[in-house]
Amino acid sequence: MLLYGPAGTGKSLIIGAVTQQIIELCQSKGERFGVVDINCQPINTLDQAVYELVQTVAQDVGTEAGVPETGVSTKRKYRRLYELINEHYDSVIFILDEIDLLVGRRENDEPAYSKLLYQLSRASNTNEIEGRVSVAALTNDPKFMEDIDGRAESSFNPRDVYFPDYDATQLREILENRRDAFRQDALKDDVIPLVAAFAAQSHGDARKAIDLFRGAGDLADERGNEVVTEDHVRESQEEIDKDRSLKLVEGLTTQKKISLYATAAVAHHSNRTGSSVPSPVGFKVYQWVTDELDADQMTRETYVKYVKELSTYGLISTARKSRGRGGGMHMEFTFTGDPEAMMTRIVDDTRLEGIVQQEELLSSVVNAQLKEFHDE
Ligand SMILES: Nc1ncnc2c1ncn2[C@@H]1O[C@H](COP(=O)(O)OP(=O)(O)OP(=O)(O)O)[C@@H](O)[C@H]1O
Ligand SMILES: [Mg+2]
Repeated sequence: MLLYGPAGTGKSLIIGAVTQQIIELCQSKGERFGVVDINCQPINTLDQAVYELVQTVAQDVGTEAGVPETGVSTKRKYRRLYELINEHYDSVIFILDEIDLLVGRRENDEPAYSKLLYQLSRASNTNEIEGRVSVAALTNDPKFMEDIDGRAESSFNPRDVYFPDYDATQLREILENRRDAFRQDALKDDVIPLVAAFAAQSHGDARKAIDLFRGAGDLADERGNEVVTEDHVRESQEEIDKDRSLKLVEGLTTQKKISLYATAAVAHHSNRTGSSVPSPVGFKVYQWVTDELDADQMTRETYVKYVKELSTYGLISTARKSRGRGGGMHMEFTFTGDPEAMMTRIVDDTRLEGIVQQEELLSSVVNAQLKEFHDE
């Protein structure tokens, strides 16, 4: 099976819950069903992955791994794995969580996960494992299967199970089940629906929804409030947004920071209401800023590309606009948050400090450019 879908949609949880039920079902029939569950995230090579599988089985059945971690071939580790499985289980499922992260050394451009999936899925065909074998690969990388499909060698032909984002109703149910984390009557009625609504709107990720729920509780607790209210939820969400955009801005290259800064400056200094930023104006201001900073200047296409990229983080929304007959097309950018807060965050980066003294000038450049654009 291939279990795929965005983060926090329950892949790891559900496979664990379902296999637990199968274990119990098999136990009642006197059959031994082995669940060999590893997370590939901390594993670097194919060899380590096989060793991890050996260890997981050994631990589950209460015996020694029987092979050293290093100094023996991967083949011997596979052999030990199959030996343990044949000895202790009638059938087995391998769960390879975050499989896409098991890249390995990419010898001959074949990633480690591809080899591992191949070996494990054919282990029963080759009778290396005597009982039934299932393999469940979990990933949130939508391109994962494309990569596997391209490999003729691979015998991994999974049944896809797609985990979509949770909607508000589902999130509400998930959160209701965690009410017991709070004292009785500590939650205002609106709290769970609001958390669910926020989470559904921005990502549909149950993990983040639970974090927000807890964050609202922490905030009420810090303030010595007896009851968690809608305001706590809103404030907690604001904190999360602030942290997220801050981290994001920190990671941008200088050119991307300048592009974002110029765009935010237009939104912020514009005297017009409903401040969306036409890309030609944003680009003119970007040019002005790069001149002021004596920085490199990218083309207009690159500027637009950078700013559009930021829309994938949800900081900005973009729309294509046409300027009437024969007027050509341009993009319009709108900030989801406060553009001024964004500017402050970018300026904290030392390379942009030179621009702070120029606020007034910047404001007049913005409005001159906007005027020119709209008069054209
Ligand atoms: N249907 C559900 N009912 C109750 N809790 C859920 C449900 N789905 C997810 N959760 C909770 O949300 C959190 C994230 O779920 P999980 O770890 O299974 O997501 P995932 O799809 O594996 O995400 P990732 O791709 O990041 O690994 C966990 O704390 C889990 O318990
Ligand atoms: Mg997971």
